[in-house]
Amino acid sequence: MLAQTLLSLLVLASSSFAFPSARVEIQIRQAISALSTAQIAAYRPYTLYASTGYCSPSTTINWSCGANCEANPSFVPVASGGDGDSVQFWFVGFDPTLNSVIVSHQGTDTSEILPIITDVEIELETLNAALFPGVSSSVEVHDGFGKAQADTATAVLAAVQQAMSAHSTTAVTTVGHSLGAAISLLDALYLSIQMPSASVNFIGYGLPRVGNQAFANLIDSKLPNLSHINNKEDPVPILPGEFLGFVHPSGEKHIMDSNAWVACPGQDNDSNECSTGDVPTIFSGVAGDHDGPYDGVEMGC
Ligand SMILES: *[C@@H]1O[C@H](CO)[C@@H](O)[C@H](O)[C@H]1NC(C)=O
Ligand SMILES: *[C@@H]1O[C@H](CO)[C@@H](O)[C@H](O)[C@H]1NC(C)=O
Ligand SMILES: *[C@@H]1O[C@H](CO)[C@@H](O)[C@H](O)[C@H]1NC(C)=O
Repeated sequence: MLAQTLLSLLVLASSSFAFPSARVEIQIRQAISALSTAQIAAYRPYTLYASTGYCSPSTTINWSCGANCEANPSFVPVASGGDGDSVQFWFVGFDPTLNSVIVSHQGTDTSEILPIITDVEIELETLNAALFPGVSSSVEVHDGFGKAQADTATAVLAAVQQAMSAHSTTAVTTVGHSLGAAISLLDALYLSIQMPSASVNFIGYGLPRVGNQAFANLIDSKLPNLSHINNKEDPVPILPGEFLGFVHPSGEKHIMDSNAWVACPGQDNDSNECSTGDVPTIFSGVAGDHDGPYDGVEMGC
């Protein structure tokens, strides 16, 4: 604590010689850090893959889905599925530029996701032991999200293994927006457990809270480099409420009103630069922020 205070004073002292006062403030708050233009741009292909999750399987299987597909022109599709009704659309394939297998799940629009995550009857339940062998029974997730992930789990795993072997890679990135982000976060955990030698990461957009504290801790240990990107005052990331026992894993990136992106340390950082602090209740949320834009990309097909 004393060392930290001294460090702040040193930063303050050295900065105030070199920089005007606005710069000094940024230096002191350095634990919440702004992303560079290049760091933001690096998310772009994943953002587009999350958006492509909304395209029907008949168009993702041969990469004929229009603007979303054309924006990632070198993608090699492997499998697609879902009916967009009882099972969200999904696709799996390989991106040679990123040298990663990509898994994407369709999301829902704000009017459909809000009832799922504001329902006071929401149940937390343990993960399916056949899909998630060895995971402690203290780990609990939203029952609807758990069921949605289980619906496509084995088909996704088979497609990922096919893509990994065809393209000689161990890198897998799961992406999605909204409900699709919740399914893809569970997929990332599932794939990392089923294939311990794979290098799995998750990049999600407008992610609701998926599970309890033990779940968030497990995710932090298995997927230490994940990102969940929240746009401005989107209410979805603050739901279901913490009072119901839900906790976000670390890795939040928050798009501020200024369009700057900041990395928020910890789980559910309550700083007003991060979603949990910026949107204290659903009434301070702006539903229209849920679909984007995320660096110019509006989710949808
Ligand atoms: C893609 O597949 C769909 C459904 O099988 C088909 O109707 C369409 O013509 C195909 N498009 C291209 C560009 O191959
Ligand atoms: C962590 O994720 C970011 C964003 O996807 C990526 O640019 C970076 O290379 C990753 N770092 C590691 C160590 O995997
Ligand atoms: C939020 O970020 C700040 C840095 O500004 C950090 O000191 C704090 O521990 C974080 N809070 C949580 C809950 O992780």
